Parts: sequence; C-alpha cells; structure tokens
Amino acid sequence: MITPPVELKTSRLHLRAARSEHAASVFTEYTGNSMAARFLPRGAHPAQSSTEAVIHAWGESSWADGDRFIWSIIDRSDQRPMGLFLMFVDGDGAEIHYGIGPAYWGRGLATEAGLAIMHWVKQQSPLSEVHTICAAAHESSCRVLEKIGLVRGQFLPDALLLKATGERIDGWSYRWRRSE
Ligand SMILES: CC(C)(COP(=O)(O)OP(=O)(O)OC[C@H]1O[C@@H](n2cnc3c(N)ncnc32)[C@H](O)[C@@H]1OP(=O)(O)O)[C@@H](O)C(=O)NCCC(=O)NCCS
Repeated sequence: MITPPVELKTSRLHLRAARSEHAASVFTEYTGNSMAARFLPRGAHPAQSSTEAVIHAWGESSWADGDRFIWSIIDRSDQRPMGLFLMFVDGDGAEIHYGIGPAYWGRGLATEAGLAIMHWVKQQSPLSEVHTICAAAHESSCRVLEKIGLVRGQFLPDALLLKATGERIDGWSYRWRRSE
C-alpha cells in the first residue's frame, strides 16, 4: 500500500493532509468559485458542506485507510488554505488533480505544489507512473503539467463532461513514467 506524506513544504507553500478546519477557506477561495471550476467536471461546490464531505472522505482522517489522498494547499505568507491537490493511487500508478483560488493564480504556486508532489513521487515513492487528463483549452493547466514533468500524450475528443452545463469538452492525456 502506498501512503504519501501528510505534509510537504516548499518555500511558499505548505501542503497538508486536508482537515475539516480548512474547508471554509478552501471553499471561499477555490472549490466554491465558479471561475476556478470552469474546466472541472465537478463544477463549483454549491456549499461549504460539499468541500467538507470531500475533505472528510480523502483528507487526514482517512489517510491511512485508502488509496485516495487530498492535501490542502496553504499559502505560507497568510496561512490560508486556498487550494487542493488530489492523488488517486491505483496499483503502482496515480492520477492527480489540483487547483488553487483565482486570487493566487499567475505566481507559479500551482507549479510549486506540483513539483513538491512530483519530487516525492520520483525520489521516495514506488509509483511508476502519474497521469491526468487536462482540458485541451486549459492552457495554463497544460503548462503546469509540462512544468512538473508530465508529457502530453493522446488528444481525447469529448473526454470531459462538465456537470454544471452538461457540455463535453476535449482533453489531452498527460503522463509521467519512471522509465522515460
Ligand atoms: C490551472 C491553475 C492550477 C494554474 O495555477 P497557477 O498557479 O496560476 O499556475 P502557474 O503560475 O504555476 O503556471 C501557469 C503557467 O501557465 C501559463 N499561462 C497562463 N495563462 C496562459 C494562457 N492563457 N495560455 C498559455 N499559457 C498560460 C503561465 O505563463 C505559466 O507558465 P510559465 O511559468 O511558463 O510562464 C489554476 O488556474 C487553477 O487552479 N485553476 C482552477 C482549477 C483547475 O482548473 N485545475 C486544473 C485541472 S486540470
């Protein structure tokens, strides 16, 4: 069984296994924000309780039990939980998802969070591959994936179903493989 670290620190961020007390800030900054959910199948969380439920399912309280892990991304300058990083482990592979609040965009913070996770993946974990699908039109996220070491693969027409509108959007598959 693969259990990632509960805490990872970078110069500007603290990634911490998500706790219920992070939910209010994460919801205000990120999960409840419709602009931040534009390319996300889940859509914006309608209420803080949705964020609490996700944190309860995959955060610190269930860390040792499962194969799904969720860190709160905390800005060390204001100590505010303002994003989430998710990892779903399946065998020796993992799927990743991430996001931060719009007030924090454009400063390299998502890249910094992703590099910390990928450092653990590469240096300390037994994982042999990490993958995700990124909306094809979501250029900044595609860029983040490239900067943290994932490689663009197949174009996937209609790969993502946006719950809020029922719209299907194209995606790119992204993957890191230990052997490459
Ligand atoms: C996507 C997201 C994570 C990016 O976070 P961020 O902290 O602003 O990203 P960074 O600053 O680390 O990097 C963004 C990169 O995209 C580039 N970029 C931004 N807008 C761009 C655009 N329209 N076209 C091309 N590149 C763009 C930036 O220049 C930067 O690359 P650079 O460092 O080479 O200049 C953030 O917007 C977010 O959380 N969105 C909501 C959730 C989400 O969509 N998650 C992704 C799910 S796949």
